Amino acid sequence: MFDNWEGLEHACMQCRTCSLCNTRHHVVFGVGNRNAEVLFIGEGPGENEDLQGEPFVGRGGQLLDKMLNAIDLDRNRNIYIANIVKCRPPQNRDPFQEEQEACIPWLRNQVSLMKPKIIVCLGRIAGMRLIKPDLKITKEHGVFFDRNGIVMMATLHPAALLRNPGQKPGAFDDFLKLRDKIEEICDHTY
Ligand code: URA
Repeated sequence: MFDNWEGLEHACMQCRTCSLCNTRHHVVFGVGNRNAEVLFIGEGPGENEDLQGEPFVGRGGQLLDKMLNAIDLDRNRNIYIANIVKCRPPQNRDPFQEEQEACIPWLRNQVSLMKPKIIVCLGRIAGMRLIKPDLKITKEHGVFFDRNGIVMMATLHPAALLRNPGQKPGAFDDFLKLRDKIEEICDHTY
């Protein structure tokens, strides 16, 4: 465990704990305000993220930024964004359980440094991993759970919204609920 961001990031960038290190171009450590009260967590880098070293920079990322901006959130100002795994799984397959196990200590260390009040899981993989293994994303998106004093919610993954635009209004409702929750429990996000 690192007690500072610089040490943590430096060590993470050298990580060779699982075989995803062999095919990555960049470790995608995370982006945003390290003092944020709200943390978004995706599944893992895709092709664009692997090439640029930043989470959610492809088409899904543009949609995410639009939804964030609609509720006055901004990746460069008042939130932080990270992923369950920090290196791209080949062909964008779901990260294997053992890859998630290998990588999650980095994320846990980020959480312990940041001490977020709210964690938003983007998609099924992050929701199942961080909220509960039997999470049904279609039924339970937008529902708040308490995990060790942190308020947690899963919403639909931006890539799923691009595939199924009919689900966008439901996802947007989740963001409105999130805005209300931020107003209720956060001190310096808005
Ligand atoms: N999908 C994710 O889950 N994370 C990213 O960073 C990009 C796409």
